[in-house]
Amino acid sequence: MAITLSTLNKLKQQGQKFAVLTAYDSTFAHLASTAGVEVLLVGDSLGNVLQGHDSTVPVTLQDMIYHTECVRRGNQGALIMSDLPFMTYATEAQTFESCAALMRAGAHVVKLEGGAWLTESVRKLTERGVPVCIHLGLTPQSVNKFGGYKVQGRDPAERQALIADSIAAEKAGAAILLYECIPSDLMQEIMTKVSIPVVGIGAGNSTDAQVLVLHDMLGATTRKPAKFVKNFISAGDGSIQGAIAAYVKAVKDGSFPAAEHSFE
Ligand code: KIV
Repeated sequence: MAITLSTLNKLKQQGQKFAVLTAYDSTFAHLASTAGVEVLLVGDSLGNVLQGHDSTVPVTLQDMIYHTECVRRGNQGALIMSDLPFMTYATEAQTFESCAALMRAGAHVVKLEGGAWLTESVRKLTERGVPVCIHLGLTPQSVNKFGGYKVQGRDPAERQALIADSIAAEKAGAAILLYECIPSDLMQEIMTKVSIPVVGIGAGNSTDAQVLVLHDMLGATTRKPAKFVKNFISAGDGSIQGAIAAYVKAVKDGSFPAAEHSFE
């Protein structure tokens, strides 16, 4: 049975966690979706892990269309969520065109990075039949504004802004919220204020779901892994399928992320 947004909402209501994993090609989309991953994220992290850039800023819409098409061909029933890359949703007309292109390529949900400034886009996209995931906290497309990959939401003003942005995104019609690198206690507070499915990465284990970058959880990295990453190759039977299955199990039973993968 294909996973839909209704499935994710039902899992949330039942208090069952779900697993999200990045996928960029057909083979891994097949492996992950058959290992029980509910959502395949065609992340613009492909700029780092496939293209060798030091940020996601150089990724183009054409790149995202190509990889979404590849993932669609291998997918066995997972929900496909694709990132709109940097500066492809800066104006209303551009946002509509970019979303249409990604959905024609196979995305079921589009992911946009940003807070209050996106509220109107979320409302208009939702009205037009485009399910939206809003990515908050450390939004990698803004790395140059942040001055590096830093935990967000540590000072009181940032905390309040993140809470307000979360409520506004849900009110505007967002289907999913995703938080990257925020303190666990802030995540817990936000969880009491929103009712749509919430995905976390480096946000503690109070969320409805977790996401990791595929290459990171397979230990296929050339840089020191971030604190929130766990290498699942050794947690499984040593195979790639085993690692993905171990990740799914650990997300669902709540054993991942542990305190050592979270920020206080
Ligand atoms: O692009 C990506 O892979 C992401 C995840 C890190 C959440 O946005």
